[in-house]
Amino acid sequence: MDGSFTLPRDASTSDPLRIAVLISGGGSGLASILSYESFGSRFFRTVLVLADSNEAGGLGHARKAGIDSIGIPLPEIGNKKEQRLKHEELIHEQLEKYNTELIILAGYMRIFTPVFVSKWKGRLINIHPSLLPKYPGAHAHRDALADGAVISGCTVHFVDEGVDTGRIIAQSEVPVLTGDSIGDLQERVKVAEHALYPRTIDAIAENPSLFIDRQDG
Ligand code: GRF
Repeated sequence: MDGSFTLPRDASTSDPLRIAVLISGGGSGLASILSYESFGSRFFRTVLVLADSNEAGGLGHARKAGIDSIGIPLPEIGNKKEQRLKHEELIHEQLEKYNTELIILAGYMRIFTPVFVSKWKGRLINIHPSLLPKYPGAHAHRDALADGAVISGCTVHFVDEGVDTGRIIAQSEVPVLTGDSIGDLQERVKVAEHALYPRTIDAIAENPSLFIDRQDG
């Protein structure tokens, strides 16, 4: 299933794009987006935060900011495939209910099925903690260190049916230092993520086609 690629509308600061942020963990990326939003006139507005459990620490950031936030744990269904599809349906329902125009994955640790991706393709964005196409998957820092990389960083990209394979929107580099642990590198990359992601979301909301033209041109 290869759904069509539909970009969000060009938003304005008086009518900002309605974004939903999806998280699984502590939500430091979410916090950086909410903070950026609160310090100026932006082309996007976070209307909903969703997590794949009720325990995700990041839900607290949303609540503090007065933003609706919902934990949607996996439903209790024995068949794994059915369970995954039902979970995505529940997420999709909430996204529709809030008239979501752009989905922002910020440390959301599940891979979406092609069924879900096809509904949101062009309006589904992720940040990955490496300079893609290098080190895709769940162990980017471990893989960068094992490879002896001297430069790493982060990548904002559209989500497609693959794992971290969608069109690249923006990247930011950080050095890998001698003796770095996975945690050291992760923290340094997160600083870069927190600077890059909110600005990139704002730029996409203002003029989404800019990013596609640049890729295809
Ligand atoms: C970030 O490094 C992100 O790139 C990766 O997961 C991490 C999420 O961290 N996909 P947090 O939950 O935003 O603190």
